[in-house]
Amino acid sequence: MTRTVDRPGPRTGRNPSRPSAQAPYARHGVGHLKGPRVALRVPAPEDVPLLFRWLNDPDAIAPWDRFEVDSFDALRDAIRDAPQDPRSLAPRFLLTLAGEGGRPIGVVGYFDSYTALETVDVWYAICLAEERGKGYGSEAVELLVDYVFSHRPVERVGATSDVENPASWKLLERLGFTREGTLRRALFHHGLWHDVAIYGLTRAEWKGSRSGPSARRGASPPA
Ligand SMILES: CC(C)(COP(=O)(O)OP(=O)(O)OC[C@H]1O[C@@H](n2cnc3c(N)ncnc32)[C@H](O)[C@@H]1OP(=O)(O)O)[C@@H](O)C(=O)NCCC(=O)NCCS
Repeated sequence: MTRTVDRPGPRTGRNPSRPSAQAPYARHGVGHLKGPRVALRVPAPEDVPLLFRWLNDPDAIAPWDRFEVDSFDALRDAIRDAPQDPRSLAPRFLLTLAGEGGRPIGVVGYFDSYTALETVDVWYAICLAEERGKGYGSEAVELLVDYVFSHRPVERVGATSDVENPASWKLLERLGFTREGTLRRALFHHGLWHDVAIYGLTRAEWKGSRSGPSARRGASPPA
């Protein structure tokens, strides 16, 4: 699920004794998460024109999602403010190729998905259609999930996928997510109501997989 416009600001006053519910990546000095073939980096101000172009291109961002057009200023401000806002739907990382001079190919993000629950959803898009289906999405989301579990005190990371979007739900299943249910007629896009699959990965499942794919491939852990 991809959205760029921010919703109201960060929640405050919940679970004050727990570790920071925000863990803004900037505060942790996280600028770059690296895998064997892709990297995630925090968008710089000079990336905003590219992101604006992508996020306003229905073919790039929303073949399987509702499409919303933002103003340039709204997007720039949303990206700038995202580290302080756990509910922000702005892109948190630019997805780049590890080679080719770090050429950008997509975006990923995460957000507090339910007001009353302690869970974070990830979202992702390879914005250049010709780069889809090459495993880059799986690698990027694996890095993102590692990052979220390493920096947020949650027991579950979730994601949603249009049931008719196999590239998305197969990616999640490949990373060990479980399909937990279906939200019927939950998303309106391209003139129709769509059913949406809910996926989740628990911290225990994630830990169990740490000796698996990403460790085997030698991905650097988040800073
Ligand atoms: C969804 C998306 C991020 C997946 O990334 P990707 O790099 O294309 O996917 P991968 O190459 O890592 O493949 C992931 C899985 O999906 C499968 N897959 C990839 N493209 C597919 C397609 N067009 N149709 C069916 N399955 C597909 C792969 O075979 C793989 O499954 P497997 O492990 O069982 O073999 C990417 O396709 C995309 O950006 N699509 C448009 C935007 C979008 O749908 N975003 C998600 C919104 S919830």
